[in-house]
Amino acid sequence: MTSRPAPISAVRQTLDTEPQSIDAPLSIAAAFLVLTIKEDEASLATVRSVLGGTDDLIKNVAVRDIGRTFTCNVGIAHRAWSPLTGKPLPKELAPFREIQGARHTAVSTPGDLLYHIRAASMDLIVEFERMLLEAFGDAVVPVDDVAGFRFFDGRDLLDFVDGTANPDGLALPDATLVGDEDPDYAGGSYVVIQKYLHDMAAWRALAPEAQERIIGRTKYDNTELPDAPAPEQKSHKTLCTIADAQGEYDILRDNMPFASPGRGEYGTYFIGYSRRLWVIEKMLERMFIGDPPPLHDRILDFSRAITGVVFFAPARKFLAGLGD
Ligand code: HEM
Repeated sequence: MTSRPAPISAVRQTLDTEPQSIDAPLSIAAAFLVLTIKEDEASLATVRSVLGGTDDLIKNVAVRDIGRTFTCNVGIAHRAWSPLTGKPLPKELAPFREIQGARHTAVSTPGDLLYHIRAASMDLIVEFERMLLEAFGDAVVPVDDVAGFRFFDGRDLLDFVDGTANPDGLALPDATLVGDEDPDYAGGSYVVIQKYLHDMAAWRALAPEAQERIIGRTKYDNTELPDAPAPEQKSHKTLCTIADAQGEYDILRDNMPFASPGRGEYGTYFIGYSRRLWVIEKMLERMFIGDPPPLHDRILDFSRAITGVVFFAPARKFLAGLGD
């Protein structure tokens, strides 16, 4: 039996591998800003310089928040990696793989850069985005900008507490940060985003017990339900549990509700951080294709994925070095 690769070994735990703020706690407010980069050399040079100055830009805003709640993570997608960095790809970095199930599709959409910005209030986030986009000028084109908000006691808009099974303590870096298996990119993390829109009327027409069977937890007090016995349809939490002989593979999720009631838009912005891209891909495969097929995740009958992009959030020093 092969053993799982070690986390970043002691000798590599230096400034070289210091991660971005992957482990920042779930926040009250967040923004998910996705940009594409214009392909000319001048635009690439501007983007390199802005990415290199990310830490300073973060400090400019973070210091104005006495509670120090402001954090920002930057991810770079497959298409932009080589032109921007001139370096080989992180081992698993690839475009988002579209997954077509019998009923639902995980679509793949454009995006070269992701800014995942978290804070205790929206003013900090908007100020940061304004300064950032000013610095980018016309080198980038925003393709999506979603403002997320914490909904009551950490619930998504389907009314279930979201984020419970996230790893914590030492299990958190072990699940999210690349280690000795890809030494050039140790301290980095794969990031997958998907924007989901909910059919609220259809979801709310279900009895709470039916909703609970779909999610795999109770609604009111957030208690885990036992896995459904075969051949019954598996719940969301069961389909998203990935394990092999070496144990379970966790990911870190910081999903946020977003809404525009006047437009009838209610959704969940899914964001997953992982040391291993294949783990999130496996979860998506089980959700959209089903396990066994065609028993897909019934959450999808009420939630439509309208975006899907994969990024890699490199260690802080790597990002800063792009400005040199
Ligand atoms: C409409 C979008 C989604 C909603 C509303 C949603 C909601 C939830 C809720 C309420 C839970 C149970 C509580 C918890 O442990 O957080 C959960 C668990 C989980 N979800 Fe999702 N989720 C969504 C999409 C996804 C996607 C796309 C993935 C991965 C590709 C994912 C991965 C997971 C994982 C790993 C768990 C924990 C399973 C465990 O108990 O070990 N979710 N989700």
